[in-house]
Amino acid sequence: MKVILLGECTSTNDEAKEYLRNGEDVCVCAERQTAGRGTKGRSFSSLAGGVYLSFLTFYSDVTADKAFQVMMHAAVSVCRTAEHFGVRPTIKWPNDVRAGGKKLCGILIENALSGDHLQYSIVGIGLNVNNDLSSLGGIAVSLSELSPMPVSVGAVRDELIAQYSKQSTMEEYLSYVSFLGEEIGVTEGSVQYRAIARRILPDGRLEVERDGKCYALSSAEIVIGEGVK
Ligand code: BTN
Repeated sequence: MKVILLGECTSTNDEAKEYLRNGEDVCVCAERQTAGRGTKGRSFSSLAGGVYLSFLTFYSDVTADKAFQVMMHAAVSVCRTAEHFGVRPTIKWPNDVRAGGKKLCGILIENALSGDHLQYSIVGIGLNVNNDLSSLGGIAVSLSELSPMPVSVGAVRDELIAQYSKQSTMEEYLSYVSFLGEEIGVTEGSVQYRAIARRILPDGRLEVERDGKCYALSSAEIVIGEGVK
């Protein structure tokens, strides 16, 4: 895969879109982003010292119901990268990677469909390595804070690209998910409630139990542990 290294850009997800016309898979990396984007229209802190990159992947015969596998593969690639540097990660469904009880990485996926097939995906990953997170109020953590060894942005970026180039499985994804069986907080739009996280279905939906009934969630936000409403 072609890898493009930039000093600064607005967002590597947006930069990756510039390569759509070439029809070729590419990974766009930046040392910092001036308008890093998170999920749900949020911004993503992108100061120098983090890994910010986006994988643009074209598909020829993948149906839209496999979209979860794109998300799963991204999260597993980050987890393997963290482990390579001696840090034990967990996945907060669907694809936040956490370590030491805090957010280590965010993933923003933009899929394009053609009918019921995936045409391409842009998988944007922001992984905290040596960046200053002090403005985030203690919710995030960097690899360098947790790793027993010195970590450089370049080494983490190269490892992440190498891991993303391999295959992953649902079993591997599930091995990083540690909250099943626990009570969680769920936010679905303006509705908040507590439920027991039961399992992750093969299509990626999270099954929760509430008042003795099971529901499959496709796009809720969850809170694990302290802070459950
Ligand atoms: C989130 O946790 O809300 C997702 C954050 C995703 C951030 C990455 S950094 C690289 C890519 N470019 C962006 O603008 N966003 C993603």
